[in-house]
Amino acid sequence: MSNASLFQRATAVTPGGVNSGARALPDPMVWQRAEGAYLYDADGRRYLDYHAAYGPIILGHNHPAVNAAVADTLKGVDLTGAGTTELEIRLAEKVVEHVPSAEMALILGSGAQATYLAQRLARAVTGRVKLVKFQGCFHGGHDYLLLNIISAPEKIGAKDPASAGMLPEAVENTIVLPFNDIEALELTVSARGHEIAAIILEPIPHNIGCVLPRIDFVQTLRRLCDEHGIILVFDEVITGFRHGLGGYQETLGVLPDLTALAKAIANGYPCAALAGREDLMLRVSSAGGDVFFGGTTNGHPVATAAALATIAALEDGSVHERIFRLGERARSGLQEIANRLDISMTVAGYGSVFAPYFMSGAITRYADLLRNNTEADTRFRREMVKRGIFMLPLALKRSHISAAHSDADIDRTLEVAEDALKLMIRDHGFR
Ligand SMILES: Cc1ncc(COP(=O)(O)O)c(C=O)c1O
Repeated sequence: MSNASLFQRATAVTPGGVNSGARALPDPMVWQRAEGAYLYDADGRRYLDYHAAYGPIILGHNHPAVNAAVADTLKGVDLTGAGTTELEIRLAEKVVEHVPSAEMALILGSGAQATYLAQRLARAVTGRVKLVKFQGCFHGGHDYLLLNIISAPEKIGAKDPASAGMLPEAVENTIVLPFNDIEALELTVSARGHEIAAIILEPIPHNIGCVLPRIDFVQTLRRLCDEHGIILVFDEVITGFRHGLGGYQETLGVLPDLTALAKAIANGYPCAALAGREDLMLRVSSAGGDVFFGGTTNGHPVATAAALATIAALEDGSVHERIFRLGERARSGLQEIANRLDISMTVAGYGSVFAPYFMSGAITRYADLLRNNTEADTRFRREMVKRGIFMLPLALKRSHISAAHSDADIDRTLEVAEDALKLMIRDHGFR
């Protein structure tokens, strides 16, 4: 069956035909096979995949060592729902070994579960209600943090809940600040620090592409949290494992109290973790504390085995060395093409991530991205997809390189990008 006919069946029984609002595409895609750096759709077309399922795929699709570890667990214990398994013990040990701020870890099933538990734990420990998040950061679909992600210009500086039906008290109690803005941070914390339970951030806001943090901003965050008894939470759901086994906190040298981890921890299997200071972590109900914590499939052996195999494949450093090198080639190659064609483009990124913005000038916070040419951004991506390079065809979305990508893949991507950009100049007068 073709993409179109399968997708028609999907929409008859599934709202919008996809199982996450973030998976809706302008042209329907029904995937049939994935291998290494490639995806294959129901029409038999092959795509070089840079979407990487929003980031988890760090080793490549259907990685043999991950698949073998998963197959192996099928011979042992499956879900028991009581006690623990050696797999879960080993995974928590690995998180504690690699993530600098992790003294203890809980193994969960999704990133949203980790940020949800982080805010509840912070509220319980501090006895305070308010949270601080930053414009442009996304932390999962729960009411406490689902606001001010990709906001319309008129919503910047105001509350911008990203869903109908959110509890007004949750929206009211979450303060939104501009990223990298030390002054706004200091003003807010000095006025309201005694009310703030936690400050949570993506240390690199990748949900709007790639905006790097100023080191003095992150250092100020740490200092203010210490001075005011606020819990600092790094949401390393994207940056964790992808930017290094120790997450981006290792690179920054600034450590949070709690860290949310997911995505690349298990190369695409549903695994996540909340890690952090022992005194905080011991407040959860699994340790006899008063903060409820549960989840029927938490630490499922299949996901846990996938995570252990993924971490094992990352431990000698060669994967990060390779994907960082290819990331640099993709970024500098795209920037060189844009410069040569005289196009306003700033290729941002870090490590294995690249994000071509259709704009020039500095990018330090979300408001800067209002200069992005959304139409050109989405058109470029759609032209890439038409030519077999799958970059998510939505503005501001980052692309990810996995260990399965090759130098030849990057060469081809750059050739195709040049063709697509030339076509946009010729047919649409775009610059
Ligand atoms: C930074 C960040 N935090 C949390 C989440 C939520 O993770 P999950 O979709 O696994 O619940 C996401 C998902 O994209 C994310 O990008």
